[in-house]
Amino acid sequence: MKRALMIVMLLWPGLLLAEDRQVRLYVAQPVIDSGLMKHILPRFSLKNQVKVTLVERDAAHLSIADTGAALFDGLGQTWRIDPVQPSHAGAKKLVKYLRSEVGQRTVFGFAPEGVVLFGEASVAEDIAEDTAPAQDVVAGLRASKQLCARCHSVEGLGGGIGSTPSFSVLRSLEDWETRFATFFQLKPHPAFTQIPDVTDPFPIDRPSPIAPVEMDMEELDAILTYVGAMGAADLGNPLKHQ
Ligand code: HEC
Repeated sequence: MKRALMIVMLLWPGLLLAEDRQVRLYVAQPVIDSGLMKHILPRFSLKNQVKVTLVERDAAHLSIADTGAALFDGLGQTWRIDPVQPSHAGAKKLVKYLRSEVGQRTVFGFAPEGVVLFGEASVAEDIAEDTAPAQDVVAGLRASKQLCARCHSVEGLGGGIGSTPSFSVLRSLEDWETRFATFFQLKPHPAFTQIPDVTDPFPIDRPSPIAPVEMDMEELDAILTYVGAMGAADLGNPLKHQ
């Protein structure tokens, strides 16, 4: 019995990896309803010999929904990929495929009845690179929106005050990192920015002329991470969202 099993394993090395060849994927309902998964999964499975089964969120190796790194835009929002079990070999393959040029082209090529439904993610593309964990980038985007978007366009999608440089324009400057790390000392920010232990309180005779920006260094760190992940690529297609 034991020997028989060994022979089978020798003849079928693939059997050893049976578990790795079964990916359990959770996909948000609107994406399933669009038909996208029926378009891409067979192509992926054929090429990689990995079977993908759609399951509930709790049971998944991997999810395509609203958490994790930006994958593509469509149906009015950004869809994100989240490796719930990052060490699963099949799931890794699927992530790699979906982020590859071929995978992305397949997604963008999905056009039921001639209508293209999905396009490039409008938020930071480098989000899932190992350098910056996706959740840090997301925290940075959130902080930027909360603290800076009043004046700056932070996602390269418009918004902000026209005369104020957008984050993507600032990001394209060679010394962007220094500028962001010290922004609270650079005009016009000292007049309205408060970071405890870092900035001086506003002089009594010169209170902040506008609703102050109150933040801490952790938030500034997160903003630096987000801006770092934006990539100058965002500059090329400022209108790709719509
Ligand atoms: C009340 C409006 C306002 C808010 C809020 C604001 N900024 Fe600015 N920021 C400006 C304006 C205006 C400029 C352009 C100044 C100039 O051109 O001299 C600027 C410029 C900058 C620059 C470039 C500075 C330089 O001299 O190179 C950086 C970096 C920056 N902002 C970061 C931030 C960050 C980070 C936040 C949020 C934490 C933020 N700003 C919030 C108005 C604002």
